[in-house]
Amino acid sequence: MDNAASAQKPLAVTNALAHYYATNHANVHRGVHALSDRATEAFENAREYSRQFVNARHTREIIFVRGTTEGLNLVASSYGRHRLKPGDEILVSEMEHHSNIVPWQLMAEQTGSAVRMIPMDDRGEIILDEYQNLLNEKTAVVAITYVANSLGTVNPIRLMTAQAHDVGAAVVVDAAQAAPHLKLDVQELDCDFLTLSGHKMYGPTGIGILYGRERLLDAIPPYQGGGEMIRKVTFQGTEYAEIPHKFEAGTPNIADSVGFGAAVQFMQDLGLDTIAAHENRLLEYAHQQAAEMEDLRIFGQAENKSGVFAFALGDIHPHDIGTIVDRDGIAIRVGHHCAMPVMRHFDVAATARASFAVYNTTDEIDRLFESLQGVRRIFGKWWMI
Ligand code: ALA
Repeated sequence: MDNAASAQKPLAVTNALAHYYATNHANVHRGVHALSDRATEAFENAREYSRQFVNARHTREIIFVRGTTEGLNLVASSYGRHRLKPGDEILVSEMEHHSNIVPWQLMAEQTGSAVRMIPMDDRGEIILDEYQNLLNEKTAVVAITYVANSLGTVNPIRLMTAQAHDVGAAVVVDAAQAAPHLKLDVQELDCDFLTLSGHKMYGPTGIGILYGRERLLDAIPPYQGGGEMIRKVTFQGTEYAEIPHKFEAGTPNIADSVGFGAAVQFMQDLGLDTIAAHENRLLEYAHQQAAEMEDLRIFGQAENKSGVFAFALGDIHPHDIGTIVDRDGIAIRVGHHCAMPVMRHFDVAATARASFAVYNTTDEIDRLFESLQGVRRIFGKWWMI
């Protein structure tokens, strides 16, 4: 139950990786030989599966990256250098993962712009009135998570995008925690950038995608320089390749892209609606079980929630909870979840977090709650059991 950190891999993915290495591997876009053609085809097919997964208009809008962190750093760096000037404002929400805060702080320092926080309430929902008040003609970027990793809140991206566009700001969506659970549609969301990680959605580690609106990707400078991303290099200057290659310097992560394509197909074969329905049932079941335990505090009570059940048990330290349930074979994450501002909001140093994937069951949730009774026993909370 530590799937928000990383999901396990189905055979469809591990087989695709093994098959690719055993039969199709060569470098891409370079060779004149048949093997390179096959590798290039497998790599570009994965880009097409990724396009379908987020419903981008064109594969030109899909860049392979190492994961969400790299996607966000790419946008902050390239779009930031292109667009941000002194006095501009970047809005990020209080519930962001550090990877959607720190890259913007770095860019703000370099450009003289400022990062401003969109506050949330105690249920873990963005305060939309405050968001609207923060938006103004200086707002250049709104960087927002679709699903909060520490709380499970699903944010109203479509609405927030429309309001950001009214003041001319670009919208960057961190979809790392949304991609395993929700159907993504960049055209419907109307966002300018959206990024996600393969390893949280049953794919390999070290691979993810960044979607960018074609017009913006054409306008902004490359992130890294090297082979693959150029059309012509002389000592007088360099012409860059067309998008998406302009943003893919060096030999790409070919095998994991292919594995990522297999993960996308695995999810589509199961059906995004089926996955969401199952996981929502699990989350509801966990909330029902929690209601029976008066010393259990849930973090994240948003109306619209996905995948994450974060909690504290009395005054027992989350690290103790995590260690004890592990002895019963149950993996959860404990700590600040790379979201220290969220911990500060709730005035805690850490929480315990169970996070669900499509292979989890209600029986497993029963076992988690039995194990939590064991935690209480160890800490002498007999009157609670
Ligand atoms: N960001 C990942 C998590 O929430 C690692 O656990």
